[in-house]
Amino acid sequence: MAQGHTLPLLDLSKALSQQQIKVTIITTPSNAKSMAKTISNHPTISLVEIPFPTVDGLPKDCENTSQLPSMEFHLPFLLATKQLRKPFEQVLQTMVESKTPPICVISDFFLGWTLASCQALGVPRLVFHGMGILSMSITKSTWFHAQQLESMSMIDPLDLPGMKLPFTLTKSDLPGSINLPNHDEMFYQFIQEVGEADAKSWGVVVNSFEELEKSHIPAFESFYINGAKAWCLGPLCLYGKMGSNKSTNQNHSCTSTQWLADQVKPDSVIYVSFGTQADVSDSQLDEVAFALEESGFPFLWVVRSKTWSLPAGLEEKVKGRGLIAREWVDQSQILSHRAIGGFLSHCGWNSVLESVSAGVPVLAWPMIAEQSLNAKFLVDGLGAGISVKRVQNPDAKILVSRQDICEGVEELMGGSRGRSARERVQALGRVARRAVQKGGSSHDTLNKLIDKLRVSM
Ligand code: UDX
Repeated sequence: MAQGHTLPLLDLSKALSQQQIKVTIITTPSNAKSMAKTISNHPTISLVEIPFPTVDGLPKDCENTSQLPSMEFHLPFLLATKQLRKPFEQVLQTMVESKTPPICVISDFFLGWTLASCQALGVPRLVFHGMGILSMSITKSTWFHAQQLESMSMIDPLDLPGMKLPFTLTKSDLPGSINLPNHDEMFYQFIQEVGEADAKSWGVVVNSFEELEKSHIPAFESFYINGAKAWCLGPLCLYGKMGSNKSTNQNHSCTSTQWLADQVKPDSVIYVSFGTQADVSDSQLDEVAFALEESGFPFLWVVRSKTWSLPAGLEEKVKGRGLIAREWVDQSQILSHRAIGGFLSHCGWNSVLESVSAGVPVLAWPMIAEQSLNAKFLVDGLGAGISVKRVQNPDAKILVSRQDICEGVEELMGGSRGRSARERVQALGRVARRAVQKGGSSHDTLNKLIDKLRVSM
């Protein structure tokens, strides 16, 4: 129930349906509504709706993290999803009673209770986290070794047992929600609960590909009991593109598609988006606007804030050169447009994979969750991007100054570090696209997974 999880799972549904597997998506009404358009061309994918509970402290009609007024509502939202258990079990029960039990349930990590539901009916539960192998392994390892880490300074390199890191990791690189010893008690308990269910799952579906993260798979699998295997099936965004026709995308912003079509120079436009969850202050958005204006590059910028508008005087200056999109765009499609030469990104895992798949280098500006780990992997581990420079005070309203954003954009789009990141990411993109083709690593793994599930029925 977060766009960063829903979209790759929809793409996975399409991949399964291409292998003649029937997919039933169990979700709540507003999520079902937004998914219906995407799957309309796939008759083997169907939707079953279960109601979202009404809960004190949570605004009505919020059924997805992208609809929350701010991330302050994240915990009440997560707790509310526990109430989906009964109606979910009824759906599963009906399938079993009508002699059409599913070969497996693929459950979001945050819905830990699906493990017990599946076990009660003898259905294998596969878990999906929306994250990459390396960042999941680091997250799990630091969670288990939290006590030892407490005594370490913020700048000492961390040595995580059983793991070979492709970059130097310090405590300051770890996401706050993982690292802080004083994190919210309720949140801690929730993660503990869903983490336990995670570890007991039958298997893990991962949106990654072996060529990218193979060396970290054994460390990752060591956190699972009962010999659960990590099935790398990605980049899932590439399955979404296969077999899709124009009508799939017709509801996405035509303005940005048209604007992009007018940009004739290859690799000339910088695409900017900070994902679906991070709260970015209006003053920080102002800095981005001034930086984009100063850099002189054409830009396509997706802005989520409903209150923010371009600072006075800037509208005229960027007219014709920049487009601000306030509606949902088809990011994956935009990234694969030849005019896009760089991506200023928060480094959500989907954005990272979409950029790699399209061969677009990233100016990394991680914000929340495990994004700082994704950014390190992309920049220091893969050489497929460069990082923005942050101000030293983490409590400041402006975390990256306009000058530093501008310098980052200039380097990415026209500098030597940008050029080498582009070469590197284009090579990676070729490998990524091969992985999902017939005979590719992810394609093979998908077929092995289906075969194994069929045998275990
Ligand atoms: C969240 C977490 O914060 C992230 O760290 C985790 O790895 C996944 O979930 P989110 O902010 O949703 O990330 O970013 P991202 O992972 O990049 O997912 C956003 C998805 O929405 C991408 O697939 C992107 O292509 C899509 N998107 C976003 C659009 O297609 N159009 C839009 O207008 C905005």
